[in-house]
Amino acid sequence: MFIMIFDYLRYNNTGVFALPSKRENFGSRLGFVMATVGSAVGLGNVWRFPTVVAENGGGAFVLLYLAMILLIGLPTMIAELTLGRAGSRNIVGVFKNLSPRRQKWWLIGLLPLLATFMVLSFYAVVAGWSILYVASSLLGITAGLSAEGLEELFASLSGSYLYPFMGQIFFIAVTVGIVVVGVRKGIERWVKVLMPGIFILLLVLFVRTLFLDGALEGLVWFFRPDFGGLSVNTALQAVGQVFFSFSLGMGAIITYGSYLARDADIPLNSLYISAADLGVAILSGLIVIPTLFAFGISPQTGPGLIFITLPAIFNTLPWSALWTVIFFTLLTFAALTSAVSLLEVMVAYLIEERNWPRAFSAAGAGFIVFIASIPAALSQGPVKSLRLAGLDFFSFLDFTASNILLPLGGLLIIIFIGWVWGTARAGAEISSGGSPFRWFLPWSVLVRIVVPLAIAYILVSGLFF
Ligand code: PFF
Repeated sequence: MFIMIFDYLRYNNTGVFALPSKRENFGSRLGFVMATVGSAVGLGNVWRFPTVVAENGGGAFVLLYLAMILLIGLPTMIAELTLGRAGSRNIVGVFKNLSPRRQKWWLIGLLPLLATFMVLSFYAVVAGWSILYVASSLLGITAGLSAEGLEELFASLSGSYLYPFMGQIFFIAVTVGIVVVGVRKGIERWVKVLMPGIFILLLVLFVRTLFLDGALEGLVWFFRPDFGGLSVNTALQAVGQVFFSFSLGMGAIITYGSYLARDADIPLNSLYISAADLGVAILSGLIVIPTLFAFGISPQTGPGLIFITLPAIFNTLPWSALWTVIFFTLLTFAALTSAVSLLEVMVAYLIEERNWPRAFSAAGAGFIVFIASIPAALSQGPVKSLRLAGLDFFSFLDFTASNILLPLGGLLIIIFIGWVWGTARAGAEISSGGSPFRWFLPWSVLVRIVVPLAIAYILVSGLFF
């Protein structure tokens, strides 16, 4: 997949990111695709996808996920990039720029702002764990531990009063630092190396997994659909996962789209970004699920799943500590490039709509995220008994943001594009780059009718029935 992207870019590497006025831009087509892949590929693929697949019964969920990508994810990705480029502003400003006078459509931009804030609060906790695993493996703590030993290690690290904060503060501080420097200078150079690096490491892990005793059973479970266990609630989880993993419904793709040049081919870019994102998720699933079976780990382990399964595979390899360090370092970087895009949504808003300086906006937003991430971290250990709607605080943030706010934000954004701004204008914007938009008709039927109806139906019935 990366080879495909590189080939494509080699022939088209013509500095296409020209920005209106003073806005920041990416240096090349490669820069944009990779930065957007960097936003999409992160903990959502490697940590969240295998966890929801495990919790939702395997193969049938995977199929449902693929269907939701085709039906909702890809058309929405095209729509959000187009809206971003046409509006050329932050998540609130885009709607101010493109809606009819005196209509208050910009209000729908406030929902993604809330969602980014909530997602970052628990995202930083998981990324903080990843940093703790880099440190523990450097200290030789993970090496040689059995699956039970690794379960105990995760429980004691994530349940401590102190360690999670160290990881989290470090992660938020680096994210803020990168956003202060600016998205382009901060990540463009890195993502080009990092994303292929992660992909190659996952491939190696996958091959190793295939040779584990009992892995085959897990592979079958991953691929064989058992439709009996599906419900609308599962569909809601699948939609939530698509939005989370594709960075949709939250302004990140709109904000990155606003940095995209006129002549870039939006549908083709969307296809590359979606394919890369899906590829990494499937690969992670193909590693984690067979490992569960091989080591007898429960699929209902929850957020700690990959922190137990992956070191367990590394411990079957020579130089296990080294593998573990490399893997969690790459995972932390993947999380960083996603967190940067999340924080950038808030920062672009504060700079453009509130006239705050960039450094002040990034530091202020980072500080608030840190405060909110404290209860999320503590809820995995010291205050696990604190419940909101039957969930601990961490899971509550994850569920509300991913399964309610993102699909709801996506629904409002798609209604705006389909019915207020209009697919005709969107189509003109897409083909203004020079390449005709060949899928215009199916895309506009999806955006105007299928996507809004599907999201509304799944959201309402998944939550209330
Ligand atoms: N897509 C990222 C991931 O899969 O880890 C998470 C994310 C980033 C979600 C940016 C939303 C967003 F706006």
